[in-house]
Amino acid sequence: MSIEKRVTFGSKLGVVLATVGCAVGLGNIWRFPYMTGVNGGAAFLLIYFVCIIFLGFPVMVTEFFIGRKSRRNAAGAFKVMAPGTKWSIIGYNGVFAAFFILGFYAVVSGWTLEYIYQAFSGSLSGKSAIDFKEDFDSFAGSDFRPILWTFLFVLMTHLIIISGVKKGIERASKIMMPILFLILIILCVRSVTLPNAHLGLDFLFKPDFSKINSSVILSAMGQAFFSLSIGMGCLITYSSYFGKETNLQHTALQVTVLDTLVAILAGIMIFPAVFSFGIEPTAGPELVFITLPNVFNQLPLGNIWSLIFFILLGVAALTSTISLHEVATAYMHEEYKMTRSRAALFVSGGILILGIISSLSMGRLSDYTIFGLNFFDFLDYITAKIMLPLGGMLICIYVGFRVDRKVLKAELTNEGTVPFYFFNTYAFFMKYVAPIAIGLIFLNELGLLSKFQKLFV
Ligand code: PHE
Repeated sequence: MSIEKRVTFGSKLGVVLATVGCAVGLGNIWRFPYMTGVNGGAAFLLIYFVCIIFLGFPVMVTEFFIGRKSRRNAAGAFKVMAPGTKWSIIGYNGVFAAFFILGFYAVVSGWTLEYIYQAFSGSLSGKSAIDFKEDFDSFAGSDFRPILWTFLFVLMTHLIIISGVKKGIERASKIMMPILFLILIILCVRSVTLPNAHLGLDFLFKPDFSKINSSVILSAMGQAFFSLSIGMGCLITYSSYFGKETNLQHTALQVTVLDTLVAILAGIMIFPAVFSFGIEPTAGPELVFITLPNVFNQLPLGNIWSLIFFILLGVAALTSTISLHEVATAYMHEEYKMTRSRAALFVSGGILILGIISSLSMGRLSDYTIFGLNFFDFLDYITAKIMLPLGGMLICIYVGFRVDRKVLKAELTNEGTVPFYFFNTYAFFMKYVAPIAIGLIFLNELGLLSKFQKLFV
């Protein structure tokens, strides 16, 4: 495809909503509460904020720069911008990360379909908190049903991907994201008015600093990267569809703020209910799925609420699976000169294989572990905690040290037509702070930092 003819998103709102659709998903509503619960609550939230502001935002702006400047997929971008060098490894890291993320994300997306089905058939009402947990465990650990739902979800993603960028991605995001936002607010109100809700709010907002350790810091950084969809070229691919007039800094700010807001709302929706119903905040990946049905039971017409909620959660997941799929499909389509549908077929097939294994790792294959993690958790760990931060670090190093400041500034200010007041601060964070901080967090997790300290103390 020639550079000039490359499709672009239709409108300004379309740009923001499609990118928000990519960022907002299960990462905010499923993974954020579960990570916050496992990592001790408010202290995690605090570090998460720090990571969003000082690492997430600069990396996002930098990805937008690369994407719109090169107008290529994640790997092709580096072939255009740094021909003959090894920087395209950043893109390959991203393409693999897309597969691995989809390998567990599609399974969780499938769970939302099961809950839509259950809400529809009325089987979510009249149960106790313990029933919900038992039902979830037996469902997620079973052989057939979760795989069937995973398959259906991958199929839906596939169909949207082959129907093209503008029609598929943009339309789905435009309609559904605002409704999701509204319903989250309603559920927050219900949750904070439950008995003992204050315990949940304390857990979420009153930090206990003794809970902070290297793994909490790594988890918070991983969550920031995962939730903002950064470090793996997804936003490079999306911003390659941005028009010339798109204000990159504003778009990054809007996406970051909205994404963080949705995560906080999800926290406010979940934790008061967790404490109110006596659920363990450390329950892990099942947390949202065992907590929310209890909240719906407290609402008049609970089944209808749960039906609407899980449909929207499914759609939020879909706008993210589309974006992940697009990274791999655009790469194969543009770099291997395959047709789009053929590329998409390869990608969907790969995801299905990973999805089946990770679904079974919740049940039948749970004894097979890699570094002590089942396959599902392993895919989550290597992507969120390793591949995305590593990708983000390399992106910053590449742009910080290899790209001419003037070129960077010209692109980020649309050739000087929009101001970028904090350009120097941004450039400093992108070039030095982000790569060093990410590197230190890695070393800290590996325990190398404390060994190093001991040499001097
Ligand atoms: N950010 C998405 C979410 O929160 C997940 C995602 C990660 C999507 C990386 C694209 C790339 O659900």
